[in-house]
Amino acid sequence: MSSRGERLASWEGRLRPLVRWLPRDLAIRLYSTGRRRFLDHFAVSPPTSGSHGGASAPIVDDALSRRLWGIDFRFPLCNAAGMFKNGEAYEVVAAQGAGAYLAGTTTQLPRPGNRKHGVFQPFAPYPRSGAASNWLGLPNRGHQQVAAHLATLPRYPGLPVGASLSLDPSPQLEAQERLRGLIEGLHLYREAAVDFLEINESCPNTEDDRRGGLDALRHRLRTVSEEFLGQTSQPPVLVKLSCDTRPDDVDGLVEMLIELGFDGINLGNTSVAYDRHRSALSAVEQPLFDRFRQRFGGGLSGRPLKEDSLRLSERAVQRVVALGAEEDFLVWRTGGIEGAEDVRRSLAVGVSLCQWYTGYFEHFARYGHGVYRRLADELRGAA
Ligand SMILES: Cc1cc2nc3c(=O)[nH]c(=O)nc-3n(C[C@H](O)[C@H](O)[C@H](O)COP(=O)(O)O)c2cc1C
Repeated sequence: MSSRGERLASWEGRLRPLVRWLPRDLAIRLYSTGRRRFLDHFAVSPPTSGSHGGASAPIVDDALSRRLWGIDFRFPLCNAAGMFKNGEAYEVVAAQGAGAYLAGTTTQLPRPGNRKHGVFQPFAPYPRSGAASNWLGLPNRGHQQVAAHLATLPRYPGLPVGASLSLDPSPQLEAQERLRGLIEGLHLYREAAVDFLEINESCPNTEDDRRGGLDALRHRLRTVSEEFLGQTSQPPVLVKLSCDTRPDDVDGLVEMLIELGFDGINLGNTSVAYDRHRSALSAVEQPLFDRFRQRFGGGLSGRPLKEDSLRLSERAVQRVVALGAEEDFLVWRTGGIEGAEDVRRSLAVGVSLCQWYTGYFEHFARYGHGVYRRLADELRGAA
């Protein structure tokens, strides 16, 4: 018997290819609403015994688990930020066998998310291309509420709990307040005893045009370093950058993060390099993509990011190794991870952990709650 979440995903997966026949604005509207409804069901549909993935027992395999910064991760892949913004679906993730659970991204003030042209939290999938666009606008209940929730979660061996947080883009906040809010958030999550933190320095989907360039990034991260890093009981902190990061900037970014005392880098977030990636989308899905970018902009996720995220993470690993910092400073990879082969390629270049978003839901539609178990079999060469 399959769970309601699995049945919905399976139906939706079969209907998705039909989306290109719909008028484009209607498709965006349907998918923006459908994505939220599906996630509501997903969050409360843990694997039932005998559900077709049979995911209920955790994956225990020394060859696949890893100890990073002294913390056990039972699998080299977990959800990317933005999937469970308010700490939802923790028991589902635990039962499926993911390598970690990541909540957020959260901000200082609660945010409802973007609305434009009558569409709330715009989203469009491109199933033939293994990709999607979103312009959600960082909807979340705020650091305080989500940290309080994470503090109540039961803990499972090999399943570290992380939180992603970012500078609040709300226009009513002054620059100093925004930075203060980020640092307060880091403290709140530390007090909630999360195992790792990820600072999202790469969301393309908010009203924020005050983030500045590399100098502003350095200033922010230096303040975080002075006011948060290096304390007792401080969890490791990674910085998540965009898949649009220029390869030539990677060495300097890695050096800066190490110098400031950060614990890792995650490459990376969605792309706004629309023209560069357009040809990677199936010709029949390009009109929907064009319409989405014209109406909302947004970030592109999924398969088109695969080679960029691999190249950027490989370059980051090379710099970390050249600096002799590989024991303490880790490189994580996100962007275009679709299965065992992508995880294998990542580990082969020295990436410590992978995250997935777009590929996860494609797999869930196919394999239900057995999604990680199936990957584990593939990674062991058994499937
Ligand atoms: C609907 C949606 C919402 C997202 N929200 C966030 C977020 O809140 N914080 C974040 O750091 N990344 C967010 N991302 C980016 C993903 O975490 C990930 O970096 C990106 O999708 C690339 O991975 P993928 O190719 O596996 O999807 C979001 C992505 C999608 C598709």
